Amino acid sequence: MRKMILKAALAALLVSPAAVAVAADEVEVLHWWTSGGEAAALDVLKKKLESQGVTWKDMPVAGGGGEQAMTALRARVTAGNPPTAVQALGFDITDWANQGVLGDLNPVADKEGWDKVVPEALQKFSKHDGKWIAAPVNVHTTNWIWINKKALDAAGGKAPETWDELIAVLDKMKENGISPIGHGGQAWQDATIFDAVVLAEGTDFYKASMVDLDPAALNSDKMVGVFDKMAKLKEYVDADFSGRDWNLASAMVIEGKAGMQFMGDWAKGEFLKAGQKPGTDFVCVRFPGTQGAATFNADQFMMFKVGDDKLKAQEMMASDIMSPEFQSAFNVVKGSAPARTDVADTDFDDCGKKAIKDLAEANSNGKLFGSMAHGHANPAAVKNAMYDVITRHFNGEMDSKQAAQELADAVAAAKG
Ligand code: GAL
Repeated sequence: MRKMILKAALAALLVSPAAVAVAADEVEVLHWWTSGGEAAALDVLKKKLESQGVTWKDMPVAGGGGEQAMTALRARVTAGNPPTAVQALGFDITDWANQGVLGDLNPVADKEGWDKVVPEALQKFSKHDGKWIAAPVNVHTTNWIWINKKALDAAGGKAPETWDELIAVLDKMKENGISPIGHGGQAWQDATIFDAVVLAEGTDFYKASMVDLDPAALNSDKMVGVFDKMAKLKEYVDADFSGRDWNLASAMVIEGKAGMQFMGDWAKGEFLKAGQKPGTDFVCVRFPGTQGAATFNADQFMMFKVGDDKLKAQEMMASDIMSPEFQSAFNVVKGSAPARTDVADTDFDDCGKKAIKDLAEANSNGKLFGSMAHGHANPAAVKNAMYDVITRHFNGEMDSKQAAQELADAVAAAKG
C-alpha cells in the first residue's frame, strides 16, 4: 500500500503545475553558430539562461552567413511552429516583421531603456512599427584582413595599408610556398571580399552602388575596376577553395598553410578558440583603402510570437542578451563589438578594442554602412542577385566588363 501511495504521489508531482511551469521555462533557438568560435560564444548565453532555470533547446542549422538557417526557418513558420528565438540579420528581420509573426519586446525594452543605448543603425532592424521585435547581440564589421604573423614576417613583416602593398605581400607569400589567401568558395564569402573591395573605392561609391543601387554606379568603370581586383585576388587562392567553409579557411591561416583571410571579425573567434593571440600569432588590419570606414552586420535574435507559457522565458532571453555583462562576455569571445554603446572595452583584446574604436569612429564620421554581403544594405532578393553575379565572375564565368553590366541588370530585375 505504501508503495502505491508513493508512486501516486510521484506521478502527481510530475504533472503538477510546478512541473509544467519548469517545462515552459524553455527557449528553442534557431541559429547558424556551429563553428568552434561561434559555439564558444553562444555557450555564454546558454549558460546564463540555464543558471536562471531556463532550458535551452538548440536548433543549429550549419551554413555560414545564414542562408540555410533562413530556409529552415521558413519551413518551421509555414508549419505554424516557429522557434522561440531566431538568429537573423538586417533586412531578413524586417521581412519577418512584415509577416506579422514577431512578438513585442517593448515591456522589456522600455523597462531597461534599450532605446538609449542601441545605435540607430541597429534599431532600424530591431524595431518595427515602434515595437522592439529583436534583441541585438553584437556588431560585426566585415572589412578586415586576418594575417598569420609568421607568414607576414616571412613576407617582409609590414601589414599592407594600400592595394599595391597587399599585392606585394601576397606575391611574397606565394614565393614562400604557402597559399597567400585562405578562402572558401561560397557566394557569401566571395561577396564579403567584394564588400571590402567596393568600400576601398570610397564611401560615396559604396553608398551609391551597394545601398542606393544607382545603376550608373553599378555599371561603371569604377565597378569594372572592382571586378578586376576580385579577379586579381583570385590568383592567390588555392585550387581547393571551392565550397570550403569559412572557418576551415580561417584554420588554414591559423596553421600557417595560408597567409591571410579577408573575413568579418567572427574569424577572430576561431583564432581565439585555437589559443592564438593578436599581435603574437595573428594580425588584424582593415582591408587596404577602407581605413576609417566600415561595413557592418549585427546579429540579432528576433523573437517570434509565442504562447503565454513561453513568454517569460523569451523575455528573460531578451533581457539577458541586452545586459551589459553579457554584451561584454559574449563579444569578447565572438570577435564582434557590443551592440550597446555603453559597454567598456576593458575585457577585449587589441583586435576587439580596435573593432569597437573603428566602429565608433566610422559611425561618427558617417562612414558606417550596412554590409551588402550580410543583408544590411538591401533585402535578400537584391543581395542574392548580387551574390550570383559576384560568384560567377569570381569563378571565371565572365569578364569584368560583363560582370558590371550583369550586376546592374540583375539588381534592376531583383528590385522589380
Ligand atoms: C555572419 C554572422 C556571424 C557569423 C558569420 C559566419 O552573417 O553575422 O555571426 O555567423 O555569418 O557564419
